[in-house]
Amino acid sequence: MFKSISLAPELANPQVVVIGLFQGGTVEAYQGKKAPYGALAAAAAARTECTGEAGRIAEAYPADSAGGLTRLLVVGLGKQDKFKPGDLRNVAAAIGRRLAVTKDERVLVHLTPALSHAGADLKACGQAFGEGLGLLGWDNKQFKGKVDESRAKRIALSVGCDKKTFASGAELGLKIAESANFARTLSETPPNIATPDWIAEQARKIAKDCNLEIKVFAGKQLETERLVGHINVGKASENKPCMIRLAYTPEKIRKGKEKPAVLVGKTMTYDTGGLSLKINNGMVGMKRDKDGGCAVLAAMHAIGSVIKPDRPVVALLCAAENSISDEAYRPDDILTYRNGVTVEITNTDAEGRLVLADGLIWACEKENPAYIIDLATLTGGVVVALGSTFCGMFCEDDALRAKVEQAAEATGERVWRLPMHTEYRDLMKSPVADILNSNPNRKAHPIQGAAFLSYFVDEKTPWCHLDIAGVHVAESDSGPFVKGATGWGTRLLAELLASD
Ligand code: BES
Ligand code: ZN
Ligand code: ZN
Repeated sequence: MFKSISLAPELANPQVVVIGLFQGGTVEAYQGKKAPYGALAAAAAARTECTGEAGRIAEAYPADSAGGLTRLLVVGLGKQDKFKPGDLRNVAAAIGRRLAVTKDERVLVHLTPALSHAGADLKACGQAFGEGLGLLGWDNKQFKGKVDESRAKRIALSVGCDKKTFASGAELGLKIAESANFARTLSETPPNIATPDWIAEQARKIAKDCNLEIKVFAGKQLETERLVGHINVGKASENKPCMIRLAYTPEKIRKGKEKPAVLVGKTMTYDTGGLSLKINNGMVGMKRDKDGGCAVLAAMHAIGSVIKPDRPVVALLCAAENSISDEAYRPDDILTYRNGVTVEITNTDAEGRLVLADGLIWACEKENPAYIIDLATLTGGVVVALGSTFCGMFCEDDALRAKVEQAAEATGERVWRLPMHTEYRDLMKSPVADILNSNPNRKAHPIQGAAFLSYFVDEKTPWCHLDIAGVHVAESDSGPFVKGATGWGTRLLAELLASD
């Protein structure tokens, strides 16, 4: 939506000033009658549309705009007693949407009198504000060509903040949004460009920029390492599979934090369903079947560039294209994994779990993980169950679950726990191999996915599986998101590592 957003510590001559107002509050109560912009704020606040509802905007215009000020916005902050810093993501988005229309380029955000009045944490408020604005700044039009040139008209926004603490939070928020926006841009990139090799190239760039180690397992190395999920799922495509390993090592590892957090992402650059071909348009949109891996890669960007936690972090991106050809893997094939588990293929469209299994085995066997979190657009069933409001979470470890839930609460990337039980694990038993990749009986699909994955994680390793199939894409413009990729998980993972 914007060409760029930059923070201007000493913003001179703002064109727009934004003042905050809680429902039932008054501007005078926050900043006194003599405060800067007091009279103009009172004029805007007196308008009938000025209700204080979160994101509701009322405007007033100076009689004399010689100083450069064109308008003042009073923005609603909602109910003061219910206020959370995260609410400012949507507030920032509402302001940003208005500025994109008015085309004003210099805005002074003067929200701290209201926020301080409510006793809010100004740093956290600034961060949420920066995130909201940064997320809104992105658009899904990078593939517009010479017919639609509207992108050229976007404005470069300069944002001044009235308090340093708020500004430092906003700076962090903008940076984290930049990482999430990177995930969104990857998600939008079509499958004729975004092949597994292309993803590996992007990962190499990130590794270089953020000082991460990188290793890409491809070709013969997949064979040597017996990464059979990648080999089989990726067999039919010209665009060959790879597993990408990135590692962040802190300058100083904190005592007790020596073991790495391991993040695993399903990175299916396209999912046709394979020989169990997707039908009735079910294939459209499957360029986004890589979004788990995109979020993990973007989180590594945030981790390496801004979060810099004092625990090591390893990322494993399981990248393949699930296509069809005479070389495709088939229903009835049996795969033997490097941990000895054998899998009967019953449906080649349940491919994500097959590549993730390689990543999970690798994590447990090679990385000595403190905990593992995997992100995957795993099942359509989770969309049926939870829609786009909550991500489906499977985590039987109380301490890890608490971390994920805290990060979800802070970032607004909501998770909802779904159950695990031996009966679900039993559903995955095969008559001819140890397990099958999908029970033909369509029971509890998202849980079947998690139950399948559980056969590849050591029992003692804390593990959380996030099925993001419902939340990785927005169907329409809402809050700081526009129709398209949401980068879901980037902010949650960054926050989790920041407070781990
Ligand atoms: N990539 C799909 C899941 C998906 C569906 C993601 C809709 C986003 C939106 C996955 O590989 C898949 O095809 N899952 C099957 C599983 C079934 C064959 C066990 C599904 O959900 O139907
Ligand atoms: Zn599939
Ligand atoms: Zn898939």
